[in-house]
Amino acid sequence: MPSGQRNRRSEQQKTFSETKQISNHSSASTLRAVLAATAILIATPSVAFDADAARAVARRNFCFKCHGVAKNKDGPSYSKVAEKYRGKDNAEERVIEHLTSGETAKFPEGYEDAHKIIKTHPPNDMAQIKNLVQWILAQ
Ligand code: HEC
Repeated sequence: MPSGQRNRRSEQQKTFSETKQISNHSSASTLRAVLAATAILIATPSVAFDADAARAVARRNFCFKCHGVAKNKDGPSYSKVAEKYRGKDNAEERVIEHLTSGETAKFPEGYEDAHKIIKTHPPNDMAQIKNLVQWILAQ
């Protein structure tokens, strides 16, 4: 074997063992990150919602036409709604009431109209409505 090739091989082996050291190190920090994230999940009871299911219900109801998650449109962004209700005990009931009663909503153009009443399949499925509301309040 020409000596140039042999040299390259030992270079590669060296690189390989360095890579292994790096990946061992990063798997330890990945583990630490996972443990930290798990601790947060355990410490936060409000993560019980299913975000994908919540978004699907919102999409089927055209909620995103008037509400962004972070962006105000005709309606306030969901993060703004969450901020408004942060720390209030009755937040969930209030927002459920808002979505099921058709109460008056003020539009930025200055007029008022009944807010859209949420529809679910099957109809009036409180589990789906609650899930959506919990997701909104966590934005
Ligand atoms: C045609 C536009 C429009 C659609 C569609 C719409 N909204 Fe709204 N929404 C508004 C407006 C405007 C307000 C502001 C009401 C106010 O402040 O008086 C509002 C307010 C809200 C609020 C805040 C209520 C509060 O108590 O502050 C929530 C939560 C909300 N909407 C959720 C939804 C969801 C979920 C859907 C879909 C089922 C939806 N909206 C569909 C226009 C809309």
